[in-house]
Amino acid sequence: MKLDEIAKLDSTYFMPVFGKRQSVCFVRGEDVYLFDSEGKKYTDFLSGIAVNCLGYSDEGYKQALKDTVDSLMHTSNLFYIEEQAKLAEMLCRATGFDNVFFGNSGTEAVEGALKLARKYHYNTGNPRTEIITMKNSFHGRTMATLAATGQEKFHAPYKPLMEKFTYVAPNDIAALETAVGANTAAVMIEPIIGEGGLLPITPEYYAAVRSACDEHGALMIADEIQTGMGRTGTFLASPALGAVPDVVILAKSLGGGFPIGAFLARGLAAQAFSAGDHGSTFGGSHLACAAAYYVTNKLTGTDILSHISETGAYFKQKLEALAETCGSIREVRGRGLMLGLDLAEPVSAKAVQKALLGAGFVTATAGKNVLRFLPPYVIQKEHIDSLLVALKTALE
Ligand SMILES: Cc1ncc(COP(=O)(O)O)c(C=O)c1O
Repeated sequence: MKLDEIAKLDSTYFMPVFGKRQSVCFVRGEDVYLFDSEGKKYTDFLSGIAVNCLGYSDEGYKQALKDTVDSLMHTSNLFYIEEQAKLAEMLCRATGFDNVFFGNSGTEAVEGALKLARKYHYNTGNPRTEIITMKNSFHGRTMATLAATGQEKFHAPYKPLMEKFTYVAPNDIAALETAVGANTAAVMIEPIIGEGGLLPITPEYYAAVRSACDEHGALMIADEIQTGMGRTGTFLASPALGAVPDVVILAKSLGGGFPIGAFLARGLAAQAFSAGDHGSTFGGSHLACAAAYYVTNKLTGTDILSHISETGAYFKQKLEALAETCGSIREVRGRGLMLGLDLAEPVSAKAVQKALLGAGFVTATAGKNVLRFLPPYVIQKEHIDSLLVALKTALE
């Protein structure tokens, strides 16, 4: 099909929530490259928004999915599922958490974690409902997760929102300490605020969240949907910030391209749910778990995490060197292979992203004016060097 025919079907039959999409339809992936319907080749610095972490030519990953398609893709959670049990064990071992629940998306995993926090306090006989999240955070699109999202632009059409969410300024310890109290069920935080503009959380603040939660008996929930599964160079980003949450949420890279979300809990939080408290028809299917098992095994059983740290550090250093000569870069943000450039107006991140797409590089924007990079973990220094040449031109 021609691109304009696809676009016509889309604009006629698909709800217009994604606005006018970029005029590209990718039809094939190979290594770290994407090819569009017109045959043009692009280097991928987005990974389907932090999803396709192993790139497009991991034969083991494809085989794991093909084998599961050939044997059995789905039964239901009424029965035991070997792939699910094995993945649960591997994720718990990799993170040090006690147990896990699998859903189908990031939003759904956040939703489940919020339910877990409520149930945890309900079990004590002293129910708490208040959840504190960060201003500029992003946690999803369902009614609870959009209420948790600390950005008014997502709220306006959906009021009244689910109640009892409070938003605090990230990295403001005094504001956090004022907000957390005896009614706080949980504080939920992204180690690096992703969609909101790649805003890093300081280790001091992360530790302050942990101690405020400990002091007031609240749960600390880390939304690691974007930062987790190796994206920042460690399996989870939280330990690198020096605090271990009670609940951690994963999705995106977890399935390497196949939809799956998860929340893991430890300690008393891991005992909060009983039979019937939560569930899912599709969550934790044979196919989803086979995909996530392959990805998790790759992250824990190979040196891919050190490759992420090393190429991430190289990439960041190159971006910082560019920032020194380029007045429109206000700040280089992020860690590992989750990096962004905060651009000074009148240079617009959207325009730079469009120019890069024209030059054959797939990137995205975040927050107010941030250009962001979330490449597949198999990206190499030479791909970064080529991007930098195109980026310099785009910024000029
Ligand atoms: C930190 C964070 N939480 C939650 C979500 C929602 O995940 P999903 O789009 O898979 O529902 C996202 C998606 O961008 C995210 O980055």
